[in-house]
Amino acid sequence: MKRTIPIAKPLLGRDEQEAIKEVLESGMLVQGEKVRLFEKEFANYIGVKQAVAVSNGTAALDTALKALKVGPGDEVVTPAFSFVASSNCILYQGAKPVFADINARTFNIDPSEVLNKITAKTKAIICAHLFGQPADMKELKETAEDHKIALVEDAAQAHGAEYRGQKVGGIGTIGCFSFYATKNMTTGEGGMITTNDSELARRARLLRDHGQAEKYRHVILGYNYRMPEVCAAIGLVQLRKLDGFNKKRRGNAEILTKGIQKISGLIPPQVNERVKHVFYQYVVRVEDDFPIGRDNLAEHLIKMGVGVAVHYPIPIYKQPLYRELGYGKATCPRAEDVCKRVLSLPVHPAVTEENIAYIIGILEKVS
Ligand SMILES: Cc1ncc(COP(=O)(O)O)c(C=O)c1O
Repeated sequence: MKRTIPIAKPLLGRDEQEAIKEVLESGMLVQGEKVRLFEKEFANYIGVKQAVAVSNGTAALDTALKALKVGPGDEVVTPAFSFVASSNCILYQGAKPVFADINARTFNIDPSEVLNKITAKTKAIICAHLFGQPADMKELKETAEDHKIALVEDAAQAHGAEYRGQKVGGIGTIGCFSFYATKNMTTGEGGMITTNDSELARRARLLRDHGQAEKYRHVILGYNYRMPEVCAAIGLVQLRKLDGFNKKRRGNAEILTKGIQKISGLIPPQVNERVKHVFYQYVVRVEDDFPIGRDNLAEHLIKMGVGVAVHYPIPIYKQPLYRELGYGKATCPRAEDVCKRVLSLPVHPAVTEENIAYIIGILEKVS
């Protein structure tokens, strides 16, 4: 039988099924008790005063920037290398994304590049904790504080990750999470905003529900970004499993790294000393001295039943949409180089030690 090791696999069981059944039987389907409880437990888990549930991670970022009153004429510094939502949320405000280059080993936004990009128009910095590794929060926070601008944490890939013992999503001005199916914990689709600022949380609650201060009294222009009860019920169960999932991801990453560091031409992900990385993705660099190029290696692994992916093949500013908008001339050489080299290998909790031995065996044979 052909072996298949997927790149992602949501782990849902009997507990999630029971939780869904309970919601369906209750007849309360949207933004009720389960959503309130999920917000409370998520806020406790992250260590923040407020959590606001929304329909997905993109809605969380959009709502966060709207709550911060980012608008036309404002600039927001964002990583050149991330999922496109880290930048599209700026376009939604009619504001201007300004792209900062990354650290070529951790793949996270480079704080000195951020500093270079600050102008009088900068309203906020967005940092993504990419692939589950917290960004350099000390430096980014100092820059944000010095310039009196907001620091938005795109924590869509980093539930439970820690920077110097503090959970991401509770370090900057406001944090944004995604519970998309492949994430460290899932609700199918879903998102969460986290903050210690009660005014930002108040605005976020209005924005997600058509600006309703009370039933049919609309005080600001809002949206329908509400979370269904079924999603919150799944989220409550997944949140209880999150630390276990992350432990397995970290363990898998450790075994992968042991194998990969012996293979010349492949560089395992670099983990900063001051962080707890939760390995949403396990991303290796394929160097020029590896016998075959990244794309050929990906093709070979897929042929052998190993689900791999390229996160991400193009810097955001070179995406067709961004070229069309005139951003294509930006230059972030490290992001451009990394896009040509990165390859994500399966690391999720359903990956077994035997799976990893199989993957390493293939890589050794090619090397
Ligand atoms: C870094 C990052 N930001 C934002 C998002 C958007 O989240 P969602 O897909 O839930 O809208 C994602 C999701 O893939 C992401 O990886």
